[in-house]
Amino acid sequence: MSTWAILLAAGSGTRFGSRKQDLNVDGKPLWRWSYETLFACDLDGVIVVGADLPGAIAGGSRRQDSVAAGLKAIPDDCSLVIVHDAARPMISRELVARVIDRCRVGDVDGVVPGLPVTDTIKVIEGDMVDHTPDRAALVVAQTPQAFRADVLRSAHAEIVGDVTDDASMLELAGFSIAVVPGDERNIKITFPHDLRLLALETP
Ligand code: CTP
Ligand code: MG
Repeated sequence: MSTWAILLAAGSGTRFGSRKQDLNVDGKPLWRWSYETLFACDLDGVIVVGADLPGAIAGGSRRQDSVAAGLKAIPDDCSLVIVHDAARPMISRELVARVIDRCRVGDVDGVVPGLPVTDTIKVIEGDMVDHTPDRAALVVAQTPQAFRADVLRSAHAEIVGDVTDDASMLELAGFSIAVVPGDERNIKITFPHDLRLLALETP
């Protein structure tokens, strides 16, 4: 039962305006904050994709291509994989344990942290509102996400269309995903103003 993490830091930061993962935040690059937390989680290994670290591997053009590159670097006997975005530096060890523990129950193929939706979401067609889904049935998905390694590999082999997270790839391939409570502090850096929300602590 070996557990590995893939830490994604190969994006180009189009919406941020630069490679946000390399930004110096409190003395170290942004990607390094989540790396150190994952490292402290007593996993069997952490594969870093697209960062300036000895042993890190190159990413791909889409997020899912970077995950695929990470999967190739993980040993064959790995049974559980955590995928995390370096753009979420405030990941906690508790959240990592929560997704791993839920996935290890064994009745589902993957686990995502989810937060209640506070905005009203509109489904649109062009510039017209089509309908408003019931907010109570929605969650905002975060990373880290945990998966059975064999299932993640098989979903990546089958699904070639664009997805924005690994859980949606598994859904498309017919696998089951459970939701556990997410962490409000585990924010994602997408735009420069998101940096104002950072409050980092060394793990
Ligand atoms: N990522 C990656 N490889 C890619 C694209 C994204 O490893 N080809 C990583 C990013 O580095 C980030 C995470 O996936 O940690 C989530 O992606 P996102 O926030 O969208 O980052 P970017 O793709 O860099 O930003 P943008 O979409 O604005 O270009
Ligand atoms: Mg992106």
